[in-house]
Amino acid sequence: MNCPETNNPPTQYASDRNLRARLRLWEAQEPRFDLYRWVLGLADIGAGDAVIDIGCGNGAYLPQVTALGGLPVGVDLSAGMLRAVTHRPVVAASAEHLPFRGATFDIALAPHMLYHVDDRPRAIDELRRVLRPDGVLVAVTNGAQHMAALRDLVETAARRADRDWVMSRMSTEAFSLENGSDQLATAFDEIRLVLPPNPVTVRIVDPEVVADYVASVADFYESGISQPWTEIVTEVRDRVAAIVAERGFFEVTGVTGAFVCRS
Ligand SMILES: C[S@@+](CC[C@H](N)C(=O)[O-])C[C@H]1O[C@@H](n2cnc3c(N)ncnc32)[C@H](O)[C@@H]1O
Repeated sequence: MNCPETNNPPTQYASDRNLRARLRLWEAQEPRFDLYRWVLGLADIGAGDAVIDIGCGNGAYLPQVTALGGLPVGVDLSAGMLRAVTHRPVVAASAEHLPFRGATFDIALAPHMLYHVDDRPRAIDELRRVLRPDGVLVAVTNGAQHMAALRDLVETAARRADRDWVMSRMSTEAFSLENGSDQLATAFDEIRLVLPPNPVTVRIVDPEVVADYVASVADFYESGISQPWTEIVTEVRDRVAAIVAERGFFEVTGVTGAFVCRS
């Protein structure tokens, strides 16, 4: 298996460009699934609750937390990401060393981020430390079959030059719906895995959306393959265009869920 050399290459989140390219792929969902609303519903935010959103990225959750009456602090390792956030306060810090006193927050959100962290046991301990004793952590991640149709196209393209290449993905391996519970159990007593009511499926008609998505993950993989990543992007785009011409759409299914954790 060809693991990416790092779970978080510094170029990946130098700005929110790559994250935006990936989010764009989900815009054509039918029926629409509002992931943010679903996650915040699991967190059960009440008026005045102190909320830490760790790995807040470009801050998509923060205004929605405020709208629910919560008091959010966005925290991210990347200053470039935080530049895209209009909400305040935000703090540049790693989940491995949270600059907050113990028992500061009622709710911690860790959406699609723990798989990027090198010292995950430490980050999970830190999340437990900054939560009040009755606090709740909602950690969101993906499952092994996440976007399998797209992974197949990327692997087919890459295997023209690297026969056994596997698109190893941290969100479905390092911290996933399959193995996240065991990792969280080092710090939390009660862990409940919750899945959305229906599969999250998108039917894509514009091959450029898929090409942009694949281009956005170049820095995880390009050093481990023989071809330039741009050639993989071109082949996947052409293949998606052929599928769209034949069937009218290219369908991708997301497998995402959340761990709701208490101590
Ligand atoms: C896939 S993005 C998710 C952004 C946001 N949570 C969302 O769901 O839209 C992952 C984010 O985690 C951040 N990140 C990666 N490692 C981190 C760490 N050790 N501590 C804090 N943030 C980190 C990245 O900079 C990036 O903004």
